Amino acid sequence: MKAIIPTGGRGTRMQPLTFSTNKHFIPIANKPLIFYPIESVAEAGIKDVIITYNPGWLEIVQKHLGDGKRWGLNFTYVLQEKPLGLANIIQVCEEHIKGDRFFLHLGDNIFSEGIKELVEYFEKEKPDGLVAKIKHPENWRLGVPIFDKKGRLIDYLEKPSRPPNDYAIPGIYFFDSLIFNCFKGKDEIKPSERGEYEIVEPYKWLIKKGYRVDVLEYKGKWLDPGKFNDWIEANQVLLDRIANGEIKSKVGVGNTVQGRVSIGSGCKIKNSNMRGPSIIGDNATIVNSYVGPYSSISSDCDIQNSSLENSVLMEGVKILNVKQPIDNSLIGSGTEVTDVNGHSNCLELFVGEKSQVRL
Ligand code: G1P
Repeated sequence: MKAIIPTGGRGTRMQPLTFSTNKHFIPIANKPLIFYPIESVAEAGIKDVIITYNPGWLEIVQKHLGDGKRWGLNFTYVLQEKPLGLANIIQVCEEHIKGDRFFLHLGDNIFSEGIKELVEYFEKEKPDGLVAKIKHPENWRLGVPIFDKKGRLIDYLEKPSRPPNDYAIPGIYFFDSLIFNCFKGKDEIKPSERGEYEIVEPYKWLIKKGYRVDVLEYKGKWLDPGKFNDWIEANQVLLDRIANGEIKSKVGVGNTVQGRVSIGSGCKIKNSNMRGPSIIGDNATIVNSYVGPYSSISSDCDIQNSSLENSVLMEGVKILNVKQPIDNSLIGSGTEVTDVNGHSNCLELFVGEKSQVRL
C-alpha cells in the first residue's frame, strides 16, 4: 500500500504566517505540522509515500522533508500543476501508484492515535474504498457519511446545511487503484461549481458503480488546525501527549520547573518559573520570566522579564520586558515584542513573521 501526502493549498486562513511559510511547515509543539501525518504513515508500516506540491514549492518542500529516509520512508515528489482539488491530487499520482492500493492523508490533519487501525482494516477487509468517521459538532462544514447497518457508505454529503447525523469524514481517504477509472471515459467525474475535483466525487462514483466502500469509526482525536484557534487547541492536545519533561540544559537554583516541561540543549535559564505541559527548544533564553502550561517555545527564542502561557512561539522570537501576561498567542519567527510603556492589559497576539510589536 502507498500513501499520498499533499503540501499544497493557499493557507489563506493562516495568514499572515502563510505569506512567507507554507502552512505545512508551521510548528505545533515545536514540530512542523506535516511531520505528524508523516510519522503516522511511517508508524502504520507504509514505506512508499508520494508528496505532492504546487508549482514553485519543490525546493522548499524538499529542503524540509528530504528523501524520507529519516522516517524510514521513500518519498517521490509529484507536481500538482493547478489547485484543482483533492481528487485531482489522486489523479496526478496515478503513474506512481502503479496499480497498488493507497490512501490520501491530508498534510495538515493530525490523527492523535495514529492511523494504523484504519490501514490494517483496509488491508484485511479489502473494500474498494474506505472513509473514517468521527463525531463532530460542526459537521455541516465537513463531509458527512451516510452509511447502512453493515457500515457501508451509501452516500457522501459535502458540507450539508442540515446534516442528518453527527458524523464527519476526516482527511484520510482510502482507495483501490481501480479508482483511476473515475477520471476516464463517459462516466468520468466532473469539477464542482468552484472548479475543483472534490474528494466526494470518487466515492460517489464507487457507490454508483456498486463497489464496496466501508466506513470505520476513528476512536482518537482528529485535529484539523486550519485556523488560529484550532492551532492553539492542537498545540494543547499535542503537548498533553508529547511533552515528556526531558531537560537537556542546566536549570540551576533560582528556577522552578513544575509538571512536564521539556527543555532542549544550550538554553540559558535564570530566575524563572516553568510549568508544563510545555516545550522549550534549543538555545532559548529565559530570564526572570514565567513560561506557563501549553507553551511551545521554538529554538533561539529570547524571553526576558515577561510571562506567557498557552502560546506558540516560532524560531527566534523575542519577548522582552512585557508586563502584561501573553496568552493564547501564535507568534511568527523573528518577531520582537518589546514593552516600552508598561500598559497593564492582557495581550492577545496573532502576528506574522518578521513583525515587530512595540507597546
Ligand atoms: C475536505 C473534504 C471534506 C472533509 C474535509 C476534512 O474539505 O472535502 O469532505 O471532511 O476535507 O478536512 P475542505 O477542508 O477542503 O473544505
